[in-house]
Amino acid sequence: MTNPNTAASRAEQLRSQINAHAHSYYVLDEPQIPDAEYDKLFAELQALEAAHPQLQSLDSPTQRVGGKALAQFASVRHKVPMLSIRTETDTEATGAQNFDTRVRKELGLTDADPAVEYVAELKFDGLAMSLRYENGVLVQAATRGDGETGEDVTQNVRTIGQIPLRLVPHTSPLPPAGEGADGFDSLSLRERAGVWAFPSPATLDVRGEVYMRRDDFEALNEKQRSKINQGMKGEKTFVNPRNAAAGAVRQLDSSIAAQRPLSFFAYGLGEVTPASEGGPDFKTHFDMLQTLKIWGFPVAAQTIRAQAAPELIAYHQRIGQTRDELPFDIDGVVYKVNSLALQKQLGFVTREPRWAVAHKYPAQEQLTTVLSIDVQVGRTGKLTPVAKLAPVFVGGVTVTNATLHNEDEARRKDVRVGDTVVVRRAGDVIPEVVSVLLDKRAPGAEVFTMPHICPVCGSSAVREDDEADFRCTGGLFCGAQRKEAILHFAHRRAVEVDGLGDKLVEQLVDANIIRTLPDLYKLGLVALSGL
Ligand code: IVH
Repeated sequence: MTNPNTAASRAEQLRSQINAHAHSYYVLDEPQIPDAEYDKLFAELQALEAAHPQLQSLDSPTQRVGGKALAQFASVRHKVPMLSIRTETDTEATGAQNFDTRVRKELGLTDADPAVEYVAELKFDGLAMSLRYENGVLVQAATRGDGETGEDVTQNVRTIGQIPLRLVPHTSPLPPAGEGADGFDSLSLRERAGVWAFPSPATLDVRGEVYMRRDDFEALNEKQRSKINQGMKGEKTFVNPRNAAAGAVRQLDSSIAAQRPLSFFAYGLGEVTPASEGGPDFKTHFDMLQTLKIWGFPVAAQTIRAQAAPELIAYHQRIGQTRDELPFDIDGVVYKVNSLALQKQLGFVTREPRWAVAHKYPAQEQLTTVLSIDVQVGRTGKLTPVAKLAPVFVGGVTVTNATLHNEDEARRKDVRVGDTVVVRRAGDVIPEVVSVLLDKRAPGAEVFTMPHICPVCGSSAVREDDEADFRCTGGLFCGAQRKEAILHFAHRRAVEVDGLGDKLVEQLVDANIIRTLPDLYKLGLVALSGL
């Protein structure tokens, strides 16, 4: 038996080591030790706590694995209500301009007064969370609920590796001084000299968003699909990362929540010990975010300070262009007045602060139904399954088709005629079916199978062992492939037939005027005028 005193100090040493490694791994994405080393430390702590139950503590990383299932969630009354944000629906330029104009008017500023400073942030598409820390230890996590009262989801939130169980100063995550290469915020030496390094206060509510990264979401759905295929009851796939995150947070069984990969971004505070009682004396929203970073919270790297409307507009455009490259979903950006004194002066209208506004982007995903699954034959004879969709406006255009790529992909997604599906169109990328809402599937919906004959010419279609695609074996007998051959022939580097392009070849082959290459030389005016 280990000596309880040495056990206690060893346990404390392990906890702080493991918590620091978790911060490097989950928040900074810079692991300091191999996974196996981390697992060893973790196992040692688990063994110590098992041998000395009095050593267990709320901020021990061993608390992250989930515990007993609950019958229901307790309610939590928020000390400071969780507000919503007014959404600016106007176009890019007017949205930010209207906000700046309104703020200036309400502050009584004239054109002669200097620009108002804002913070521009991402609007994360997850669910709002309030994390309560007492003397630096996470004691409660609550959902937003109706803004006044939420649900106690502490057990589930503890399983999120990015959320610190204990607040300790971290020094590394400060952004570098000087002009950032990526055009994001730069910091003065004064700021780096430590104005953010407040000790963690007695009482602190951190507000932020729990979300699921897109890659984690895809992997989770893949896992769910294979469970369903194995006949496991009660399993389902998720429509989008937000629903998956919300489902995980509201799991009564925290050991299930522990297996759902969730992430977190901090963006604000609720109740905090006032400066007069030793709490932090933040002057600006931006300073507060930097301090949250030092305390160990993830804060989005795309957060900037901006002067007046033009810089907000530029931010909205820049984030809009790079939105698809983010590893998580956002549905817009948020502008906030930076000075906390000005925020206080502006106050609230009903449940919305006058000092913040959300500026959205068009949705990239929508639900629609599959009308049919067609198989198209390419000019190389490749067969491609394509879902024909009820028209839906997504990512700024009306979408009626989405490729299913090939047999494996169609089988993996298991799209069937009549299904309700999630369609995604991000940027200029071709639209795709992301997933099927299995609980909406009509009984008897038939599994899609690739045809073994070519839908264009009726020749057999085969898939070679090491190939992903079915191919028509009809060669030039197949109208689809004939087009390619004729085009190739007509190409400038071959015979150079003037004016014989895509469109005309299509018409000639479809009208059965050209069946073989020599038919090209027999083309008369009569045949052509009949097109
Ligand atoms: S601030 C004072 N900042 O948007 C306003 N909210 O309508 C309090 N959200 O459900 C919220 N990203 O969860 C704020 N950078 C961000 C946000 C953000 C997403 C969500 C929030 C809430 C909704 C507010």
